[in-house]
Amino acid sequence: MEFYNLTENSPQITAKTLRGLEEILASEIRSIGGRNIKTGTRVVHFEGDRELLYKANFLSRTALRILKPFHEFKARDENELYRGAYDFDWAPLLSGDRTFAIDGVLNSPYFNHSGYIALKVKDAIADQFRAKTGKRPSVDTENPDIRINLHISGDKCTMLLDSSGESLHRRGYREETHKAPLSEVLAAGIIMLSGWDRRSPLVDPMCGSGTIPIEAAMIASNVPPGFYRKNFAFQKWPDYDDLLFRKIYEGDYPQPKDLPLIAGSDTSSHAVGIARKNARNAFLTRKVALRISSMENLEPPEGPGVLITNPPYGERIRPDNLRALYSVLGDVLKKKFTGYSAWILSSNREALKFVGLRPEKKIVLFNGPLECRLVKYSLYEGSKKTVK
Ligand SMILES: C[S@@+](CC[C@H](N)C(=O)[O-])C[C@H]1O[C@@H](n2cnc3c(N)ncnc32)[C@H](O)[C@@H]1O
Repeated sequence: MEFYNLTENSPQITAKTLRGLEEILASEIRSIGGRNIKTGTRVVHFEGDRELLYKANFLSRTALRILKPFHEFKARDENELYRGAYDFDWAPLLSGDRTFAIDGVLNSPYFNHSGYIALKVKDAIADQFRAKTGKRPSVDTENPDIRINLHISGDKCTMLLDSSGESLHRRGYREETHKAPLSEVLAAGIIMLSGWDRRSPLVDPMCGSGTIPIEAAMIASNVPPGFYRKNFAFQKWPDYDDLLFRKIYEGDYPQPKDLPLIAGSDTSSHAVGIARKNARNAFLTRKVALRISSMENLEPPEGPGVLITNPPYGERIRPDNLRALYSVLGDVLKKKFTGYSAWILSSNREALKFVGLRPEKKIVLFNGPLECRLVKYSLYEGSKKTVK
């Protein structure tokens, strides 16, 4: 079988994301032409051709990884797993001079160690090559030519080619970060969940390394999220179509003439220094206003506008100080952000109560392992203090 058939015969594509962002990712996939879209937990399945696979990598802001299923079989023990992998013809995909890596993901009562299942499949591949050609491809976990995912759900084993390589949240503009940076994918997802219209001001008064304002500026100026990446894994595939990818890379992404104010500030001069550097790396220096300021001293533009922020959650702060911080945040929202919608992401539900405003909406999201709430407050004239 040709490699071409592996990637073109079946139109199935799988995109991975963070929990809570599945619907947003599904709408992104729809907008680039994905068909038969189905969402699961942290995953969106859809159909499309090679062009769509490239586009999903280059254009989706909320995808972590785009995978291409290519082989499926059933296994309930390690021998069946080995057999299922050995029976597949690996020649179109791998050769003696190509490197590969296998990552296992398990959700099965029949297997209990993802590292071990990956090892079993690696052995099957090596044995097949040894038997057929005498020369086997070697494993490179850091920078392989071909990265394979093995998912086992019950007794269903699915092998998928990883077309992204490094996780897509690594856009490429962020070399340095301040404390507890937000994933670029989560930042973009929150901005999209907020329904920001890209015309009114967007403010992050605790911006740390600047991820929220930088992602907002990319969204508003229509900069593809993959624009800064040095490479994608599909560029090492034997069927890589450079012309097709160039067409997507150099595509028409019209920038609006006028951008709204997109601002980030932080008390830490170190954080703002890093945020400025990141904005420079993203060629967005003139599109994001970054300054050193405590939120108490901010003079934001008149509403309507959107405030999105990710305050400290309290891992390194005394509880009393944290409550005070959230309570000041609530006061600042009421006094200075009339007419805004404010979206606050925090894992600390206790501290969130000290904002003292009536939440209009709560969305569960995960920041790494931390279960968070993204809470929306609408700041009408004279917002009432209701919650204690
Ligand atoms: C969790 S970090 C934000 C991370 C950021 N979203 C990123 O991606 O890098 C919280 C930030 O709040 C800032 N901060 C804490 N108290 C503040 C205050 N009163 N005014 C402004 N910033 C504050 C801290 O310096 C820290 O950078």
